[in-house]
Amino acid sequence: MTNQESPESTPPVIVGVTGASGAVIARELIDTLLRREHPVIAIASNAARLVWQEELDETYNQALARWVEHPLFRQYAIGDLFASVASGTTATAGMIIAPASMNSVASLAHGLTPNLLLRAADVTLKERRRLVLVPRETPLHAVHLENMLTLARLGATILPPEPPFYLKPLDIDGLVRFVAERALVALGLSDNLPDDLQYQDRQR
Ligand SMILES: Cc1cc2nc3c(=O)[nH]c(=O)nc-3n(C[C@H](O)[C@H](O)[C@H](O)COP(=O)(O)O)c2cc1C
Repeated sequence: MTNQESPESTPPVIVGVTGASGAVIARELIDTLLRREHPVIAIASNAARLVWQEELDETYNQALARWVEHPLFRQYAIGDLFASVASGTTATAGMIIAPASMNSVASLAHGLTPNLLLRAADVTLKERRRLVLVPRETPLHAVHLENMLTLARLGATILPPEPPFYLKPLDIDGLVRFVAERALVALGLSDNLPDDLQYQDRQR
């Protein structure tokens, strides 16, 4: 955001949440963006809502109830194909899908857009805006890898939630913060990782 822009006129980041493990990464991303006064549009798949409840200490609706208090937060229902972000004419600052399920990765790699999350991601690709995927599955078979290769060739950043072992991460919170900050750098919203998440010179 430049000095002339108000947060209200800054294009929003779309955060797509799918039903892979790692709901905590989506929560950290949205919390961080709102703390930094960056507009956010959230879209969660039906499976994402189930996984959210399974993995976190709250339901997705409870998280929404917290976020809607923030003036820069908006959310759309997964079936709302009339939402503004279904059209390329709506300006956005790109999209992060975190976590990204293999199902949604496969759909996107093949241009299938049966819900708003996938339509918004497809629009992001066709408009040549930044798309960052945080895929979560292990191990990966050839179709998973081929789908991710297709998306990488289309310009998406594939950012698996890998631990930065070289930083000697202390806990899951540290890892989640690392992945969220990496995604924001990949989207071009942050210039650098915070100092404590950067690899520093070592004594040789
Ligand atoms: C608790 C739980 C964890 C899951 N974890 C993963 C995962 O890590 N990666 C994945 O690709 N699918 C995972 N799935 C399966 C997806 O939720 C399922 O394929 C779903 O159809 C994805 O739909 P979506 O892409 O619309 O969100 C998980 C499902 C459950 C219930």
